[in-house]
Amino acid sequence: LHVAVLMGGWSSERPVSLMSGEGVARALEARGHRVTRIDMGRDVALKLAEAAPDVVFNALHGTPGEDGTVQGLMDLMGLTYTHSGLATSVIAIDKELTKQALVPHGIPMPGGRIVDSAELYARDPLPRPYVLKPVNEGSSVGVAIVTDDGNMGQPISRNARGPWQEFDRLLAEPFIRGLELTTAVIGDRALMVTELRPKSGFYDFDAKYTDGMTDHICPAEIPDEIAEACKDIALRAHRLLGCKGTSRSDFRWDDQRGVEGLFLLEVNTQPGMTPLSLVPEQARHCGMSYEDLVETIVAEALA
Ligand code: DAL
Ligand code: MG
Repeated sequence: LHVAVLMGGWSSERPVSLMSGEGVARALEARGHRVTRIDMGRDVALKLAEAAPDVVFNALHGTPGEDGTVQGLMDLMGLTYTHSGLATSVIAIDKELTKQALVPHGIPMPGGRIVDSAELYARDPLPRPYVLKPVNEGSSVGVAIVTDDGNMGQPISRNARGPWQEFDRLLAEPFIRGLELTTAVIGDRALMVTELRPKSGFYDFDAKYTDGMTDHICPAEIPDEIAEACKDIALRAHRLLGCKGTSRSDFRWDDQRGVEGLFLLEVNTQPGMTPLSLVPEQARHCGMSYEDLVETIVAEALA
């Protein structure tokens, strides 16, 4: 097959996407496929037309790339591509739209609301502790946890225009104490649950991509009931949103509250494929190599 691997772009997750894309490209080459690497720029349509691949492997993360824009372009161009399509991507990149789509179907997600940054500098939008996050970023870019003692992540300053000015929309959610959990869906199967235990602070950008900064407990040492609930929710969310290929659902679980304490935070339609990423790790635990995973995702796109 001739596969174009689309990576890079200009989102805040560009470096992550370059790592994902290079890993995917090498895996495809190792399996004997012809690969064209495309670093996405404004001329991406030209590059895709020139390459004229059998299939595009979308290794982009963030906006644009994970948000439907590139998917719409490829639909117009009649290209076959991996992962989710336009409508799914538009909803899943936006954590507030995701709630509106899933909560009516009984998927448990945290409450909270959209706040504007002016309001934020005047008062706390929710009782502490709470989490502030841009609605449409990935890899914990721009996330802060505000506690009574101060905050972790992005600094909050009430006197100066803060870092959130650069994000369009911010979401404030109650902070859920307890464990950080994640479940991959590949094809039509939820694999398992991984617990992420950062050695300090929370599972932020550095903890995600610096080797040794986070322990991955895979599979998580949690009660069966919670593991089954994570898998059930991840699969239902994948289907309700119409995800394709793969997705990864991230959770918080308050272990003092039993299954009532489990909340889906978001669904990632373009989960990371870096050496420290979680979908390849769960696949490996299920006996699926990185190369097999990449080929499975490509095969689903072509099916
Ligand atoms: N946003 C990153 C790439 C992830 O979900 O893995
Ligand atoms: Mg995400």
